Amino acid sequence: MKKNILHTELCDMFGIEYPIVASGMGFVSGPALAAAVSNAGGLGVIGAASLTPDELREMIKRAKDLTDKPFGVDAPIPPQLDDVPPDATEETLRELIPAEAWDFANKFGEEFGIPKARGKAGLQALSIDITREWFQIALEEKIPVFVSAVGNPDWMIADAHAQGMKIMACVGLVRQARRLAAEGVDVIIAQGTEAGGHTGRVGTMPLLPQVVDAVSPTPVLAAGGIYDGRGLVASLAMGAVGVWLGTAFVTTRESCLETIELGYMSQWEVDVWKQAILNATEDDTIISRVLTGKTLRMLKNRFQENWVKKGGPELKTPKQNVLVSDLLEGVREAKMEGFTLPVGGQISGMIKEEKPAAQLVEEIVEQATHVLEKMGLGK
Ligand SMILES: Cc1cc2nc3c(=O)[nH]c(=O)nc-3n(C[C@H](O)[C@H](O)[C@H](O)COP(=O)(O)O)c2cc1C
Repeated sequence: MKKNILHTELCDMFGIEYPIVASGMGFVSGPALAAAVSNAGGLGVIGAASLTPDELREMIKRAKDLTDKPFGVDAPIPPQLDDVPPDATEETLRELIPAEAWDFANKFGEEFGIPKARGKAGLQALSIDITREWFQIALEEKIPVFVSAVGNPDWMIADAHAQGMKIMACVGLVRQARRLAAEGVDVIIAQGTEAGGHTGRVGTMPLLPQVVDAVSPTPVLAAGGIYDGRGLVASLAMGAVGVWLGTAFVTTRESCLETIELGYMSQWEVDVWKQAILNATEDDTIISRVLTGKTLRMLKNRFQENWVKKGGPELKTPKQNVLVSDLLEGVREAKMEGFTLPVGGQISGMIKEEKPAAQLVEEIVEQATHVLEKMGLGK
């Protein structure tokens, strides 16, 4: 049998074939996507951010029905704001949002003809209690890896390690990587500013080798701006043990399926989102706080552009999510295409077709192997 030249420490850690991880994106990464990636030899991850604890349990069960390979769970850890109780609900948060902010949102809706609607912010980052529940479920379900998207996972490390679960955490700066590695995080994800979703200011190319050096021997995954085998080889060359891909998997056939089924997004909205990524050039994204209050890379759109132009509020997470949720529901109901907030990274410019997730994994593997062989490193 031909030697798998892409085999790394990450493959040994999880018993997977290729060092390709599909990130656990909220609203995007359900059991169909996670299982497809794991079945193709990579590591799939379910994004818990949009799910209630019961829904997460059900999604894990479904993934187990679809694959006997390992897969992970990913969830954000919300910041603790002084005025937000740890068990805050969407209702509590609505009351905490200042009247001027609601006023602005109402006027914004009226000016752009967005119908009045009642939105669901989704559970993402609403309260630390929910993150604790998600983590507990992952433990009970014997999930081999839990990923902390944003926030500090120090409180989960001892319990995870006690049952052999690994913790991965995402960073955008060397000092964050050092702190998390010292706390016992098993795999650091170094995510450059190119990435879709919450992101920092440093590019993947300078960030990755600096993080690798800073936390060695802790393994590091490369994230931000990777779509193909060249990106995988470059990441390995810079010392990563694999890649963590987000935007690349948004346009796979299996993405968002359960989100539509659960009613968090409509088919129309998902179609518009995917098409926006397929149509985008490398310069069609922007970093904005409009959706979550944190810097988040999305494709340029009229909602964000006008919100900023008019000096719209940028409240702290999770208040901003709740503030814009009614408007986004109105946009969805009225099918206002230019007003959706399609999250995606700079690599969108390279993505030209929707494909099955397994095909994407296979193509990355094939191209990476070919590149290495061409360099004389494949034998
Ligand atoms: C639509 C979308 C949603 C995301 N949601 C999450 C999330 O819930 N949790 C998380 O850890 N990262 C999330 N991210 C970030 C990804 O995990 C990943 O770090 C990033 O997409 C990598 O950069 P790339 O988009 O260039 O591949 C999201 C990214 C995108 C594009």
